[in-house]
Amino acid sequence: MAKLRLAVLLSGSGTTLENFFELSEKGELPAEVVLVVGSRPDAFGLERARKRNVPTAVVERKKFVLPEEFSEAIFKTVEPVKPDVICLAGFLSLLKIPPAYEHRVVNIHPALLPSFGGKGYYGNKVHEAVLKAGCKVAGCTVHFVDNEYDHGPIIAQRAVPVLEGDTTERLAARVQEAERAVYPEVLKLLAQGRVKVEGRAVKVLPA
Ligand code: GAR
Repeated sequence: MAKLRLAVLLSGSGTTLENFFELSEKGELPAEVVLVVGSRPDAFGLERARKRNVPTAVVERKKFVLPEEFSEAIFKTVEPVKPDVICLAGFLSLLKIPPAYEHRVVNIHPALLPSFGGKGYYGNKVHEAVLKAGCKVAGCTVHFVDNEYDHGPIIAQRAVPVLEGDTTERLAARVQEAERAVYPEVLKLLAQGRVKVEGRAVKVLPA
């Protein structure tokens, strides 16, 4: 199976990126991270990349006013490394996807979309909202990124139970464990060319 060239965009601690590194080092992920871009210079994920000698860049969200201008700078930064796929990994800014990258940018969101998605729903805010709503299941979603927050075609989802007495931290840990499994599974499917988008729906082709 050919390896995917991945560009990873992040805004925070980069545990999602770390998972990609670890699996790829164990030969369990047919992907190579060729560039990591941070939307903040202090994103710890950048440090994780530097430690492994993976090239990094910073495109600071706050230096741009419109999402269009910010996105243009992001894609200009990424284009020279010719990634097959761009992975959002705890990336918190809205992107406007150029036609050449349609269905080539994927995100993981810590909820079962279309619930608990959209502007303001990220990280622990999602888990707090899930607990407040009294949900009995939570989970995560890997989806293609379009021009709206948490909105593009859904590729895969994993559900986890919400348990009596759950705190935000306990629920977050359970969801993140599911994230660590499902995001790499989707990357494998993409590497195998088995993902087909039909309108809003995504079909996984047989192996
Ligand atoms: C993950 O839980 C991911 O689902 C979430 O941020 C975390 C990334 O953590 N993403 C979103 O909330 C996007 N709306 P990390 O920075 O440690 O990889």
